[in-house]
Amino acid sequence: MKIKIISGITAMFLLASVDAAAQGTLAEATKGNFLFGVAVNMPQVNGVNPSESELIAKEFSTIVAENCMKPQPVHPQENTYNWEDADKFVAFGEKNKQVVTGHCLIWHSQVGRWMFVDENGKDVSPEVLKERMRQHIYTVVGRYKGRVKGWDVVNEAFEDNGTYRKSKFYQILGKDFIKYAFQFAHEADPNVELYYNDYNVETASKCDAIVQLVKELKAAGCRIDAVGSQSHMHLTRPTLKATETSLKKLKAAGVHILITEWDISVLPSPYHGANVSTSFTYSKEMDPYREGVPASVQQKWNKRVLDVFELFLKYDDVVDRVTVWGLNDAGTWLNGFPIRGRKDYPVLFDRKNERKAVVNDMIKMANKYNSKK
Ligand code: XIL
Repeated sequence: MKIKIISGITAMFLLASVDAAAQGTLAEATKGNFLFGVAVNMPQVNGVNPSESELIAKEFSTIVAENCMKPQPVHPQENTYNWEDADKFVAFGEKNKQVVTGHCLIWHSQVGRWMFVDENGKDVSPEVLKERMRQHIYTVVGRYKGRVKGWDVVNEAFEDNGTYRKSKFYQILGKDFIKYAFQFAHEADPNVELYYNDYNVETASKCDAIVQLVKELKAAGCRIDAVGSQSHMHLTRPTLKATETSLKKLKAAGVHILITEWDISVLPSPYHGANVSTSFTYSKEMDPYREGVPASVQQKWNKRVLDVFELFLKYDDVVDRVTVWGLNDAGTWLNGFPIRGRKDYPVLFDRKNERKAVVNDMIKMANKYNSKK
């Protein structure tokens, strides 16, 4: 009897794993819809935990560097470039036969201060900044020419209310810094795709500003292939309606759409943006799930993932890529942002690198959607 029960359980377990194996990966299930990707950190590129590197290779069709291609790491001083990590990252993607995205060329964060000042610490002239941008973009884009499918050329140039962020680039060059960046990137590699990337693209005023930017860039003869919507989400914000409206508006603007940094935080948040310099003090109330996520909250998160994913599928004629910002809950940047030292659960693999149950439901959803096409 005992043996029978055990073998029954074993049989169920086997069936379940056969079911999961038969379903394959999300990247396979969404092959006809969009690329499915993940942001990768250096320990993963270096194989510090080989199972993570293997999962990245197996489960995703495209990768982006979480940090190593940003301006500061690559170009910390005017005449110093650090290629070691970015080179390894690109080679890692090639080894795995994955599409590689470059992130990012011009951004107000994670950029060396040297870019904006002269030897006396005073702001440089517009001509000097423009030339430094040109040098940076030509050198970085030129180095990976033919190996990177597209670049986030400018990241986060707008405030949520649709005004230009008063970054150093904007203060010194005005809004034309964006146009220059796109021109330089295109000159450096005429075949590479060029993207504008931002967070809270679902916010109407910001979305409208981005649409206007797309029009202006096109009118100026610049190449712009897609707008990246970072999609750092919470359990209830942005609403599905706002998300869909933003997809519609971008589609109407004649650009493709990339979901570039998708995650859905389960934690309470004092802030619904992704400006990396924002921070709040830690409190236990803001870190409620140290021992795990209660079933009711997990259900809400699962439903939220599926609702949003369904929208991405619905707009698959214009959504070219969906990238999750990080492989697992242990490594997510949201454990440190906007409050340090919390425990969040926003991505598709858990702290033991197990694929979360919702992934199978996403695969089923994609299969069903594609069978009706
Ligand atoms: C984040 C990384 O995940 C962190 O490791 C780093 O400390 C800060 O930047 N918008 C972006 C990403 O475009 O580059 C940011 O990534 C998250 C917000």
